[in-house]
Amino acid sequence: MASSAALDSNCITLTRYVLSEQKNAPHATGELTQLLNSIQTAVKVISSAVRRAGITKLFGTVGHTNVQGEEVKKLDCLANELFINMLSSSYTVALLISEENETVIEIETDKRGKYIVAFDPLDGSSNIDCLVSIGSIFAIMKKTDNSIPSVKDALQPGNQVVAAGYALYGSATMMVISVGNGVHGFMLDPSVGEFILTDKNMTIPKRGKIYAINEGYTHQWDDAVKEYVSNKKDPSKGKPYNARYVGSMVADVHRTIKYGGIFIYPATRDSPNGKLRLLYECIPMAFIMTQAGGLASNGKIPILDVQPTSLHQRCPIFLGSKEDVEEVLAVIKKHSK
Ligand code: AHM
Ligand code: MG
Repeated sequence: MASSAALDSNCITLTRYVLSEQKNAPHATGELTQLLNSIQTAVKVISSAVRRAGITKLFGTVGHTNVQGEEVKKLDCLANELFINMLSSSYTVALLISEENETVIEIETDKRGKYIVAFDPLDGSSNIDCLVSIGSIFAIMKKTDNSIPSVKDALQPGNQVVAAGYALYGSATMMVISVGNGVHGFMLDPSVGEFILTDKNMTIPKRGKIYAINEGYTHQWDDAVKEYVSNKKDPSKGKPYNARYVGSMVADVHRTIKYGGIFIYPATRDSPNGKLRLLYECIPMAFIMTQAGGLASNGKIPILDVQPTSLHQRCPIFLGSKEDVEEVLAVIKKHSK
């Protein structure tokens, strides 16, 4: 009998999975496998740094703010350098877009490949120093022509994404990815340093029992969001939902896929476009959510149909179980009449 600690001699690693997907794709060159390998390396090092941050004095800030005017944490900085260094030496990308860099990062000509990657190297920065789950998020697109890479190549809508995913540094480290053929979850086995397929074909329940939104901003929401959230707590409108809000998008979205429900970061009076960034937060998560059978909307149209107009543009987001998102969209529609 196999012991519970036994290793599977035929386990599916993340690299093995992507290779087999690529083998089935016409005209595949293996570049995407190579690209995802470089992201895996960055994620493994970030995971190790996150686990040892207290001991190696990686908590705290570096003493300056980023393009968004937010304080940069030491781990933000390390994670960003890892993503940039691993991707720019992978020979697979032409252009990088990072939450931490004001403009696009152009890859030198002799190292250029055909892909464009938008990423948030370490999301949920406010949770770093108190050991609450944080994550990394990325979306991969293709360069559409042979011109010199520029900002316009980065401004592609989500329906052009070829692969997206996130890494969650939670009670375990997990990578969840989609190359457009369902969503699959891979747990990092620290004893061998590999991501092993543990959650094949992840699908989100049609309806959940959890809502996730920062209720501290209630006074700044529009009437539709106020009504929807109030309904979720009102026993006369059905069994009240549970409230859960980590404050790290990756953790909130991962829970939403696993358990069902809805995650909302709406427009507020002070931030009329919400807080989350379209290119490297909303689009990758919308791609994953849609591939898992859920929905992701900006309140009017699917997130994947929003045409980006600037690199760090923000976007309201309503994402989760199909019926839950449809319900909030119906309330929004009623209020817009
Ligand atoms: P960050 O990229 O600076 O870490 O901010 C993004 C995070 C998301 O992970 C999370 O969903 C959101 O900010 C929480 O914001 P708030 O504290 O306003 O609820
Ligand atoms: Mg972020």
